[in-house]
This record gives sequence, C-alpha cells and structure tokens, in this order.
Amino acid sequence: MRNFLSVGDVPNLDKLVESALRYKADPFLDRGLGKDKTIGMLFLNPSMRTRLSTQLAAKHLGMESIVFNVGAEGWALEFEDEAIMSGSTVEHVKDAAPILGKYFDVLGIRTFPTLQNKEEDYSELYIKQFIKYSNIPVLSLESATLHPLQSLTDIITMQEIVKLKKLKKPKVVLTWAPHVKALPQCVANSFAQWVNFWGGADFVITHPEDYELSKQFTQGAKVILDQEAALDGADFVYVKNWSTFTDYGKIYCNDPQWKLTNKKLGWTNDAAVMHCLPVRRNVELSDEILDGPNSVVTQQAANRVWAAQAVLSEMLKGQGE
Ligand code: CP
Repeated sequence: MRNFLSVGDVPNLDKLVESALRYKADPFLDRGLGKDKTIGMLFLNPSMRTRLSTQLAAKHLGMESIVFNVGAEGWALEFEDEAIMSGSTVEHVKDAAPILGKYFDVLGIRTFPTLQNKEEDYSELYIKQFIKYSNIPVLSLESATLHPLQSLTDIITMQEIVKLKKLKKPKVVLTWAPHVKALPQCVANSFAQWVNFWGGADFVITHPEDYELSKQFTQGAKVILDQEAALDGADFVYVKNWSTFTDYGKIYCNDPQWKLTNKKLGWTNDAAVMHCLPVRRNVELSDEILDGPNSVVTQQAANRVWAAQAVLSEMLKGQGE
C-alpha cells in the first residue's frame, strides 16, 4: 500500500481488519517495523482522536511522529496551480510539500472541505497536491470528502460486535442527525463506501428530504426516508450529521425529531449505537443514548489506534518492497 486515501487503496479488507485486531491483542508485535522512520502529520484543522491514535500507532511500530498544526501555526498554504499569490496565502504547496518529502518517510494530512465549492472539494485538490509534490506515501487523516481511518475503525468495531453477538448478516443503519453547524459529508460518505465494500451487512441510509449523499459512495445501500421504517430491526445505528450535497453545504432542516432517543432504539434489534465523535450532546445525540448501555462510541474511538497501526504497517511494508 503506497497511499491511504480511501477503501480503494486496500488490497484485502479482511486481512487489514485481522491485522488491526492482532495489534489490539499485542500492540508491540511489530515494534521494529518503523525503526528510523518518521511520519509527519499536518493538520489544517483540529483533531483529537485522529492525531493521538495515529501517534500511538506509530509509537507501537517504533516510528517517530512529528505533528505540525499548519492551520493554527503554519504559513497559509496555496493549493491552486498557477495562482497569483497576492491574497492571504503565503506558501505554495508546490514549495512546501517537496521539503516535507525530504524530512519524512510518510506524510499524514488532515484537511476539511470548504463547503463553498462542491467541484473543488470533491476533486480532493488539497490532498492530491500533497501526493503530487511530496513524492512520499500520503496517509489521509480525513480529507475533503472521506475519512478512511475512521471508516476502517467502524468496520473493525462492527466486526467485533458481530462476533460477540453471533450475528449473521447485521442490519446497519446510517441515520442523519440534527446539528447547529453545516458539517462535511466526509464521515457519512466514507462509512457508506466502506460498508458497501465490506458487503457483510444489509445497509440502509436514512435522512430528511434533500440530504441525499453522493451516489458515488452510497451505491449498494437502500435509502429509506422514513426513519422509523429504516431503524426497524437494526443491529447497528450510526448517527451522523451532514450538510446538503446537492445544493451544496447548506442546512435545510434541523428537525430535532431526527435525534435518536431510547424510544427509537426500541424499534431496533437492541442496536449498538455508533458515532465518530466529537458529538454535540443533546443536539446530535441525547445523553440517554450516549450514557446508555447501547453506546459503543468509546470502543469505536479506542479502536482508532489499531486501525491506524494496521494501515501504517501496510504502508511501511510497502516501502520495503
Ligand atoms: N473522529 C475524529 O476524526 O475525531 P477527531 O476530529 O478528534 O480526530
């Protein structure tokens, strides 16, 4: 594996999940794999889980990690080729990325979408420019449209629960939830892409009218606009807000009726409730759910380490070939 940007970079998902679970059982199994290697992690946006879990994963593999919060501490980067840089940007990615390519062995990048220009966001310009100009393997720590480390974590967590509960083919429901801000579609896109690729679930997406996601990621899922019908018999409920895709980056409806409650949980098959975090309590998800027995959000976030470790391990092995 050279780069990790989406499920498309994964040669064998079952093997990657197995590898993550091996690291969970024995974190220092491959302690020498990253010896004398360094990952540079650039954050154009805030993060807690992605940053710390990836640093821990690198440490378990004997790899150094250096974090740079570009968004808060660095020069404002320009990404457009042939830009006339007379505005707010100070350094072109074309100048910065080759230097990072000399400093590091792997480059992790976190960017968010602008939510202003759909074509630009969905072209993944920022992360693609880093790939083009750094000349080293690039690890997505969340991009404009996808969050692959989160999705791998989600698959690992679901597989653990499937095994524990002896489920055959679980029903997985991705449900839209209200929020006060316009949020990216990344987590929802990515979750849909990975669950479809996994193929181990009956997959349903439910959302208010006008909140349909891009078909390039949802193809294979059943879309049911009636939340009650969608939740019926669910084994997993993944709760997430996203802004509109078609009329891009808007909040049309913020109906609190879409919030998951214990009453709605009663329609499911005692479903495990998932969320990528951070979550706005009592807006996106209620205290009663988050503090209740069905929430697996901490297990999910803890699994971020093993997902990152499995991916970094594949990237390091790829460098040795
Ligand atoms: N889920 C997730 O990516 O969390 P952070 O934003 O804290 O990294």
